[in-house]
Amino acid sequence: MKALRLVTAAAVTSSLALLSLTAAGPAAGAEEPVPWDRSLRELAADDRLRVGTAVDMNALAEDVPYRSIAGSEFSSVTPENVMKWDALEPRRGERDYAAADRLVRFAEQRGQKVRGHVLVWHSQLPSWLTQGDFTKEELRSILRRHVTETVRHFKGRVWHWDVVNEAFNEDGTLRESIWLRELGPGYIADAFRWAHQADPRAKLFYNDYNIEWAGPKSDAVLDLVRTLRAEGVPVHGVGFQGHWGIQYGLPGGVAENFKRFDDLGVQTAVTEADVRMIMPADEEKLATQAEGYRRMLDACLRARHCVSFTVWGFTDKYSWVPGTFEGEGAANILDEDYQAKPAYRTLQSTLADSSRATLR
Ligand code: XIL
Repeated sequence: MKALRLVTAAAVTSSLALLSLTAAGPAAGAEEPVPWDRSLRELAADDRLRVGTAVDMNALAEDVPYRSIAGSEFSSVTPENVMKWDALEPRRGERDYAAADRLVRFAEQRGQKVRGHVLVWHSQLPSWLTQGDFTKEELRSILRRHVTETVRHFKGRVWHWDVVNEAFNEDGTLRESIWLRELGPGYIADAFRWAHQADPRAKLFYNDYNIEWAGPKSDAVLDLVRTLRAEGVPVHGVGFQGHWGIQYGLPGGVAENFKRFDDLGVQTAVTEADVRMIMPADEEKLATQAEGYRRMLDACLRARHCVSFTVWGFTDKYSWVPGTFEGEGAANILDEDYQAKPAYRTLQSTLADSSRATLR
């Protein structure tokens, strides 16, 4: 297991193991049964689980502790933005893989897997596409080409693809998007088939939020996946984004819900975990947040085929939350100074205490 920690001496100085020690105080190590010197990555390896993070490429380039922790604490990475369509093809026909390739190389040098995110989504599309005047036939071939070329470019180097993202409304109906409107519901099966053709070994995921618990939306996803698989469509996994807010109360029944998907025989993954709160943060909110993270990780550990647990960024310093949800923040497991929050310690101890065999 030790071999998994590919950290240099310099990296260790800023790595979390040490930061945690500082945060907990020198005496805390004796009281707490938590092995502070072990990264999430190493602890998860014991459970045959990849623990991942979304990566902000600007931070990775400019911020030394960010880069060091991204490389040492996790065994999988997801590009936060650079594999989205608007990033890959800002002008029609000019595809730019530079930033995405940089992340793939970063990951390969550190023995990390890459979760490809995302092929078909209604958001972060280039304006030449959304504002273009295309026939249905043209749009279908544009989408086909995007899926095929993207997957082919990364062939053999991307472990999972989020093939279709956020296709459902909260009530379980299909979301009105350019794809549904122009191509009809068959775009979903098409996208999976095209992706599979381009890289038959990549695991192909449907990914969405608010499907961590049972309800109309997760019922619809379950139904979709069951139907697609019965039709022989290559869908291999379901990603639970896990964007939670403690002000809504923490959801229950998460492990039971994961099991419904597990029973279909597909892989599952927590793909974008973050647990936000109305600012300012306080001790009680941070404890609730930690429990939120714990619930998601626990559900994953209990599911036979849950293969990865990814946080949507690891530090409050670069979180998407304050810019998206007004007045909310502090959603990540480390604070803005890379100090471990209760959520980080809870993930550590949950991994350390778990043996997947006995949890099930
Ligand atoms: C977010 C990124 O974190 C932001 O930087 C970007 O401005 C918007 O998208 N669901 C997803 C992710 O699938 O791609 C989103 O990421 C968050 C919600």
